[in-house]
Amino acid sequence: MTKQTVLTGITTSGTPHIGNYLGAIKPAIEASLNSNNNSYFFLADFHALIKCHDPERVARSTREIAATWLALGLDIDKATFYRQTDIPEITELAWILTCMTSKGLMNRAHAYKGSVDVNREAGRQDDDDITMGLFSYPILMAADILMFNADIIPVGKDQIQHIEMARDIAGRFNHTYGTLFNLPEAQVDEQTQLIPGLDGRKMSKSYDNTIPLFSHSDDLYKLIKQIKTDALQPGEPKDADNSTIFQLYSNFASPAEQAQMRTKFDNGIGWGDAKKELFEYLDSYLSHPREEYNRLMGDLGYVEEQLLKGADKARQFASPMLEKARVAVGIRPLNWQGAANQQQEAKQEKEQSAEQIARAEEGRRRAILMQLKPLLDRVDNAADKAQEAASLLAEKEQQVAGLKKKAKQKAQNELDLLREELAGLLG
Ligand code: TRP
Repeated sequence: MTKQTVLTGITTSGTPHIGNYLGAIKPAIEASLNSNNNSYFFLADFHALIKCHDPERVARSTREIAATWLALGLDIDKATFYRQTDIPEITELAWILTCMTSKGLMNRAHAYKGSVDVNREAGRQDDDDITMGLFSYPILMAADILMFNADIIPVGKDQIQHIEMARDIAGRFNHTYGTLFNLPEAQVDEQTQLIPGLDGRKMSKSYDNTIPLFSHSDDLYKLIKQIKTDALQPGEPKDADNSTIFQLYSNFASPAEQAQMRTKFDNGIGWGDAKKELFEYLDSYLSHPREEYNRLMGDLGYVEEQLLKGADKARQFASPMLEKARVAVGIRPLNWQGAANQQQEAKQEKEQSAEQIARAEEGRRRAILMQLKPLLDRVDNAADKAQEAASLLAEKEQQVAGLKKKAKQKAQNELDLLREELAGLLG
């Protein structure tokens, strides 16, 4: 059986919450363990710019989402996990696809139409405050998907239309230039769409009713205490099926635990006690990944490195795929002569792998430098920078000398980088 490519993106404009976890992250990580699947998961950071113009928030969300997926045990050897903006092929493909997309199709996109409706209701011009990013966003999404010839796209209901648009765009390209792209299909899990938030409506950032996945225990309890309930007193039987507390609990607990909780509801458990049970269950369920999350948020150089590894892996597919799309539309080397041009292709491949090696090297350098930032700051803040640089290097040399093998090699690499960085300050 040929493998199915499963691909999904997460817009980096918010803090991961329990609804994201149950609805998207957990099923995605589980699917990536299935050896029939070839999984691509990515941080859709260019998509974040469509609705969020707060740079700190975009950057913070990107860190949080990356650390969350790793903390929850995503195996990056099994899945390809990357940041959209590390794959320049995607934006390049987006332009090629833009030229294959009819404007009328984009006029019909829900996200755009919804914003127009809001403007009309408020008595403003139709396109007030609407950017071209919002308008053409389904094309970027099509590029994300078609770049990797993805088969299955797990998404929320609101995204189904975008997958259909990606199919349309792919179909038009294939029809015009010859078949290149696979036609993707949306996969919507009805059950996980129904995660209620604090007020009982669907848990969603836009309703401001979320429970962040890795909040501190105390904050988690505070939020759970805010869950909306009715006025039934302790001792009065309660309807588990209509309770947000019970629904949240059921999404984590085993069937036997759910049955026990249901009995407690029948027997009139007080709301305060029900909330306490939910809190205790969630707190212990999340405690291990939360620890891991906090550890990773303190070691972002490592997280960065994992993303860059993922980007290298993704580009091994994206780069030849984009080349095919360019050639198909007529963007070619001047002396391109179809299949006879194998020699040229072989040369390009070689150049590309040199570029890949350089990229990986640059990634490692960036990651190490990020960890050494406090040391470089020390030099930067010193009155006599040259002297501080010299004494820092001397300290580091002494540290290297005192270490063994692996640790020594690591510290030696750091020392070499520091020497390079500080070379300009030393006479
Ligand atoms: N637009 C999607 C959302 O808001 C995120 C996304 C971007 C995506 N690119 C994608 C999802 C490609 C699936 C495939 O949820």
